[in-house]
Amino acid sequence: MDGRGLVRSMRTMATLQGVRATRSALQRRRLDARWLPARGAERARVPGEVVGAEPMPGGGIVRFARSELRIRVVKGGAVFRSWDGAEPEPSYALAGEVPEPDPRAQLEPDKDGGWRVVSERVTVEVSRLGAVDIRTPGGVVLRRDLPPRWWEPVEGGPGRWLQRTEVAADARFFGLGGRACGPRLRDGTYRLWNTDPRGSFGPADDPLYITMPVQLVVADAGTHLSFHDNSWDGRVTLREGEEGAGSGHDRPGTSEVRMDGGPLRCWVIVGSPARVLARWTRLTGAPAVPPSWALGPQHARWGFGGEREVRRIAAGYRARELPLAAVHLDIDHFEGHRVFTVDRERFPDLPGLAEELRGAGVRLVSIVDPAVKAEPGDAVYDSGAAGGAFVRDGRGREVRGVVWPGECVYPDFTDPAVREWWGGLYGERLAQGFAGVWHDMNEPVSFAPFGDRSLPRSARHDLEGRGGDHREAHNVYALAMAHAGYEGLRRLRPRERPFLFSRSGWAGMQRYGGTWSGDVSTGWAGLRASLSLVLGLGLCGVPYSGPDVGGFDGSPSPELYLRWFQLGAYLPLFRTHAAIHAGRREPWEFGPAVLEHARAALAERERLRPYFVTLARLAELTGAPYARPVWWGSPKDRALRECEDAFLLGDALLVAPVLEPGAERRSVRLPKGRWYDTVTERAYDGPARVVMDAPLSRVPVLARAGAVIPVRGADGELELEVWAPATGRRGGGLVVPDAGDGWEPAEVERYATRLVEGVVKVKRVRLDGSGPPGRRVRVRGLGPAEL
Ligand code: GLC
Repeated sequence: MDGRGLVRSMRTMATLQGVRATRSALQRRRLDARWLPARGAERARVPGEVVGAEPMPGGGIVRFARSELRIRVVKGGAVFRSWDGAEPEPSYALAGEVPEPDPRAQLEPDKDGGWRVVSERVTVEVSRLGAVDIRTPGGVVLRRDLPPRWWEPVEGGPGRWLQRTEVAADARFFGLGGRACGPRLRDGTYRLWNTDPRGSFGPADDPLYITMPVQLVVADAGTHLSFHDNSWDGRVTLREGEEGAGSGHDRPGTSEVRMDGGPLRCWVIVGSPARVLARWTRLTGAPAVPPSWALGPQHARWGFGGEREVRRIAAGYRARELPLAAVHLDIDHFEGHRVFTVDRERFPDLPGLAEELRGAGVRLVSIVDPAVKAEPGDAVYDSGAAGGAFVRDGRGREVRGVVWPGECVYPDFTDPAVREWWGGLYGERLAQGFAGVWHDMNEPVSFAPFGDRSLPRSARHDLEGRGGDHREAHNVYALAMAHAGYEGLRRLRPRERPFLFSRSGWAGMQRYGGTWSGDVSTGWAGLRASLSLVLGLGLCGVPYSGPDVGGFDGSPSPELYLRWFQLGAYLPLFRTHAAIHAGRREPWEFGPAVLEHARAALAERERLRPYFVTLARLAELTGAPYARPVWWGSPKDRALRECEDAFLLGDALLVAPVLEPGAERRSVRLPKGRWYDTVTERAYDGPARVVMDAPLSRVPVLARAGAVIPVRGADGELELEVWAPATGRRGGGLVVPDAGDGWEPAEVERYATRLVEGVVKVKRVRLDGSGPPGRRVRVRGLGPAEL
């Protein structure tokens, strides 16, 4: 076909897709009108007066005139509470068994006809009208949930509800999944409905692909996490409080959660940020540890066009001696965009290519979209249809949507049998030589010129045999897909940890893998949004993520590309990626200066690989994200709570990326303690705000005094980089050596450091006594002042 013919046929295709999308959007509207009749008259309800109570393990039931409240403190200190008899299960968020009730937590009568449950870490106080206070053991209120309100259709059907909560006037909100406008969530309404923002997004776009009813609230009085275990569409309206507002009284911060249906049940976890995340990931699952190679630099592109280009890119990295751990193939390597196929003209020998790249240390990762082309004869469609695997409408017909391959159907991942079938399909990917998968378009997306770009809300889902519709299944669709993919990969290749990351997801998705920013727009605002997403998701328990370095669309300026690259080098998933018509993203495409600075960023990433391996393992063991807000260790430092342009990488490093054009210096807010500029080794004492050099060649990175950082030495061996503790102080760190890509348990090494008469002493701490580190140590930061 000549050039003009190609353009013509692409236009026709585009129009055809447009017609299909319009048809499917109209059909969606018809189906919803038919199966989800408009809400008629509703009756409002509040709990009413307390009428009695009944103790039970971990707490009990407090009965009100028109509802009942269950309170259960579980071992470890998390508090479950629910109205109208809801239990913790069934839940898509929880992993494994619900923790046992804490036998020491007792329900007892409280003042004014209320009740309370006292436990070691938290006290829950219930008022006569159903307000619930969560207090620290010292009695300080961390949150006050006002009596909820329900609106129930007179004709029957799911009721809506509203839960209004007050928090301290100084409290700051974080979380709610991946939000581009954070990490601190300012006043506004945030929707809980996983959404493909269409095109690319910036900080003003909300919601995005991953929404979660998970809030992390940080205040002087303490930190807590609250999770409404409910996957329905909802809205959270946040308003920060004000100290000394109106006649000197504090105005509390407020959060209003409104849900379109589903149970009113909530988990609250109180403690330091580290403790909260540890409990949260205990409850919802330990974050999957990516294979070590997935902590290296990766390159993706929509539109490689064929094997030759993939080889050219890999060779380009090699020729310039730039490290490259993986190349990701997008939908253009599929035959007609159909999942689990290969375009044999462009990729005649994918397993051969994979093997060749593997020989050069480069893995191949495959995109996997959930939608299956609705075409008899398509092998995936046929096998799915035979097993009744696809989502159906109220009349039992397959629901059709439109995605890249054209008219599509959608596997119902909320059905265990469908998950099993789908997981088996990954065998084809493994046979093609792929080492990992990249789940996309799983909000799920169906193209539509108007309305919601997803399935009809009335579409039927199995929901683990309970049955229900898309209103409940939508937000957990990608989570259940990740479950299917992860288990499939485990079954198919039991000796290796799966590598999976997914655009959409929900609470608990970290059990199966990570995520990435999605289609972040190319611009300085997009760069900022990338950091917001990574930090917010980390606080919701999803530690492995990163942006499309350079942004998804358009062409970044060399400076923007470089600053993005420098940020990405310190984030868990470090991957360049771009849309099919976007400009280049290879480090050598932006001139020799950018190439040299990108080379330095890559070299530093490689040097820090053992640290990333350690952080991945610690995330699994403790729930702590690799990338943390700077207030992580000092949540009471209000200035740090406002700081959104820097982050801690583990305990040891503070990274201050450059997020604006033309900067050669930037100010950095330091938590308490001593910090060293990792390049000049100059020491700074926090808490402080310091101005540091940020030339194009690097972004400021500081190391905490006393830290022990595992790095790759010049000979490739793991060595300990030890930053001198301040005089009279001690330090230390944890190191988890790479145990390979299988299931060997991590062995945690603990080191202690101190400064004795100007000499840094490093010890390995063992249960049976301490001893020499047993590893090569390189001391840094010993300036003349310390000698
Ligand atoms: C979506 C993804 C993007 C991918 C594209 C084509 O927009 O977010 O990463 O390149 O689809 O598959």
